Amino acid sequence: MQKLIVKGKKFLSGSISISGSKNATLPILAASLLCKKVKITNIPLVKDVFTMIELLSSIGLNIKINKNENSLKISNFKRRLNTIAPYNLVKTMRAGVLVLGPLLAKFKKAKVSLPGGCAIGSRPVDLHLFALKKMGAKIKIKNGYIHASAKNGLIGANINFPKISVGATENAIIAAAHAKGKTTLWNCSIEPEVQDLIFFLNNLGCNIRLKKRNIVIVGMFEPKSISYEIMFDRIEAGTYLIASALAGKKISILKVKPSVIDTEIKILKKMGVKNTRKKNKIIIHKSNKINKTNIVTAPYPGFPTDLQAQMMVLMTKAQGISKIKENIFENRFMHVPELKRMGAKIKIKNNTAFIEGPCKLSGAEVMATDLRASVSLVLAGLIAENKTVINRIYHLDRGYENLEKKLRKCKAVIQRL
Ligand code: EPU
Repeated sequence: MQKLIVKGKKFLSGSISISGSKNATLPILAASLLCKKVKITNIPLVKDVFTMIELLSSIGLNIKINKNENSLKISNFKRRLNTIAPYNLVKTMRAGVLVLGPLLAKFKKAKVSLPGGCAIGSRPVDLHLFALKKMGAKIKIKNGYIHASAKNGLIGANINFPKISVGATENAIIAAAHAKGKTTLWNCSIEPEVQDLIFFLNNLGCNIRLKKRNIVIVGMFEPKSISYEIMFDRIEAGTYLIASALAGKKISILKVKPSVIDTEIKILKKMGVKNTRKKNKIIIHKSNKINKTNIVTAPYPGFPTDLQAQMMVLMTKAQGISKIKENIFENRFMHVPELKRMGAKIKIKNNTAFIEGPCKLSGAEVMATDLRASVSLVLAGLIAENKTVINRIYHLDRGYENLEKKLRKCKAVIQRL
């Protein structure tokens, strides 16, 4: 099994280009089940994207990847596709469940494995099923699979989500795009990745409007052949902003749209992290003192749960006790025992972590259980005394493109074994 070795206490300088968004690519790939011919550019070459490509290929799409260009071409002229998403693919990547909506809408039936639990929480899919049932789907759970059918096709409906969910919003949008009539979704996720999915579908010829937390979709359209560029990865950008605040002399984060990550930039500024915003880049300057702060994770435009672990590392450098309240997932403090092994002073009470700083971190052998927890340990390694060895880095490969290469370009000492 591969591991990363990080030698800490080196100042970073230079620039980091942000890749395309993993969490925008996955639903857009699922939505391409509704296309005939499409080119998608700026895709990140990460494991989860390859898993989605494998899933769509097993369903019957013809996908050609151009790794040098970070792009792929999809053609889909078959009249019949395999409407099954198997357990071995969905269990490794929960976003596999996003093929349920488009398969059901287009082929009137689908059999998709239930993803099961994962390291950050139980992550049910009841809201996905709730939306599809409102559109007329009949759903049964049998032998670990969701068996869905809609004899007469899906029909537009009024759907008021009892809770905000990124994936359920995406599944419902894609399904509604191919349903008969108008669908109105209430209490939706409006994460930038959901908005990117809407831009993609509208480019294809759909008619989708977003207003506050409501989304109106007029179903059925003749898909155009288009080329679409995926948005930047705001979580990757946030991760490197925090890395720069921790260990940077002066680092430019390139290929971003600062307004999309306004919440994160404002919090960093409040913590004393000096930054300059330009049109497509953010420059982080060396900060002398980090101030304590409190954050609460929440749906967009709130602070993202996917940056909570990385932010916790920065809080170990802040003066005083900072707090993080995790409101999205029930089990997302798995990085805490590992950070404590490196010397962090963190206490957890219910869904709140109390981080006492400033404290010195020292290198240790650590391991993580999910993508963002793993990257938080890399960040901790950058500022720790001596060497940090991070195990189980297959988690990192699911979502960070060229992590070591990008950090090494900024003079970090990091090596994969
Ligand atoms: N939830 C339900 N029922 C459902 C769906 C969700 O109760 O049917 C709950 C979840 O258990 C959770 C909350 O609602 O407590 C929010 O989950 P959501 O559905 O919004 O998350 P997701 O769609 O499964 C996406 C990202 C995650 C990110 C979350 C929250 C993708 C592929 N994944 O997951 O990204 O943490 O939204 O922003 O877009 C990551 O990239 O590391 C990652 C985990």
